[in-house]
Amino acid sequence: MDTTARIIEKRDLTDITKLFVVHAPLVARNTAPGQFVIIRVTETGERVPISITDFSRAAGTITIVVQEVGRTSVLIGALEVGDTFLDFAGPLGLEVPLPEEGHAVLIGGGFGTGAVFPLARELRSRGVRVSSIVGARTRDLLILDDLLASESDEVHLCTNDGSVGYRGFVTGRLEELQDAGAEFTHCFAVGPMPMMRAVAETTRRRGLPAMVSLDPLMVDGTGMCGGCRVTVGGKSLFACVDGPFFDAHQVDFDEAVARLMTYKEQEDLAGELAGLGR
Ligand code: FES
Repeated sequence: MDTTARIIEKRDLTDITKLFVVHAPLVARNTAPGQFVIIRVTETGERVPISITDFSRAAGTITIVVQEVGRTSVLIGALEVGDTFLDFAGPLGLEVPLPEEGHAVLIGGGFGTGAVFPLARELRSRGVRVSSIVGARTRDLLILDDLLASESDEVHLCTNDGSVGYRGFVTGRLEELQDAGAEFTHCFAVGPMPMMRAVAETTRRRGLPAMVSLDPLMVDGTGMCGGCRVTVGGKSLFACVDGPFFDAHQVDFDEAVARLMTYKEQEDLAGELAGLGR
């Protein structure tokens, strides 16, 4: 049985964002929307959790998107077609619970947009109406909106600078759509932590059920190390085995943000050593 994970396609989405199609039939066979993989590229390197953007059981492929923001992601970004990952463990995490009916609004921020695509496809196959909101700082950083559009009834683009679409944050566009009469029944969001926190606050105020995908620090991905602990509804849970999607209104974002910053100094140093000026 083929257990290697070989890159069969690579595409630059932005200067620092790469899309990889990986032949990993064992992972693809068992993947469901909302799950992720953990990747390692060197024997002594860190293990990086990455959302699954797309999967094909028939072709045995997993598609992932990697943003070069640190030492390891730069190493991943340098891989080429034909290269294999040292580890490509997955699928990890739980399948996201999706509704069977209604009108879902999916929100993707930055490279999180790829992670909502499998949800869109599954929701549409169930007959759920799908509206997608995609946001980035500027037009050049918007990615995969065309892919998401292929499985959405409508897509709304947002940029902070107004270079394309709505000028402002995804939450502003969400409220604008609701004010115009959109009757969303469910919301799912993936993106940077501040965006997901804003989605949680907005949807709570609006009485809209929402789930967000948390990406805390992870090590083993099996619930053993405790690195990815989050507090949800007053309970300690692990994003790798109890998530990564959680009820947005129950997440303790203060704690999640603080824990995410734990190793910032070391991450910045590793980024400098990798040639990332930040
Ligand atoms: S990554 Fe170790 S417990 Fe989740």
